[in-house]
Amino acid sequence: MSRQIKTFTYQSPEYVQALKLRDKILRKPLGLKFTEAELQKDEHDIHFGLFEDGKIVACLTLTQTENGRMKMRQVAVDDNTQSKGFGSQLSLAAEKYAIENGFAIMFCHARKAASGFYLKLGYKIVGDEFTEVNIPHYVMEKKL
Ligand SMILES: CC(C)(COP(=O)(O)OP(=O)(O)OC[C@H]1O[C@@H](n2cnc3c(N)ncnc32)[C@H](O)[C@@H]1OP(=O)(O)O)[C@@H](O)C(=O)NCCC(=O)NCCS
Repeated sequence: MSRQIKTFTYQSPEYVQALKLRDKILRKPLGLKFTEAELQKDEHDIHFGLFEDGKIVACLTLTQTENGRMKMRQVAVDDNTQSKGFGSQLSLAAEKYAIENGFAIMFCHARKAASGFYLKLGYKIVGDEFTEVNIPHYVMEKKL
């Protein structure tokens, strides 16, 4: 089986695959759909995927923000391939990209239920719990 991590652009065939995965893992279970405003944010972002034989099994998106801070968002691993290290591998690849491009901090809006995943990667909770997509979240960040 060939396994590959790569970046891809907005509206590419890989992006279309990633969007389906994001919808399946991050929106449908909450009874939500992506809005046009949410999808517009994707246009200038950097999209990462982990592919097995050309099929996406994990994805995430990076948004460049100010003051050397990169935001990691939309982290999703297909449900039958979770807990195999793919989320970690992809996050580390995204951190490497951010370092190579001069960013000093990676941060995210972590779902409370997934905060243990980010803690294992060295992220720290910053500030109070808040609600996003109707569920509890923390801002979490890591010095790169
Ligand atoms: C959360 C998610 C991205 C993690 O990716 P993954 O590939 O399943 O995780 P990994 O196998 O790389 O796990 C790495 C470590 O984090 C731990 N971990 C993974 N998910 C966890 C969770 N939800 N809570 C606590 N710990 C978690 C693993 O046990 C593992 O620990 P270990 O190194 O001691 O074995 C993935 O499970 C997922 O997509 N979940 C549903 C959507 C979601 O919550 N996305 C994040 C939005 S902020």
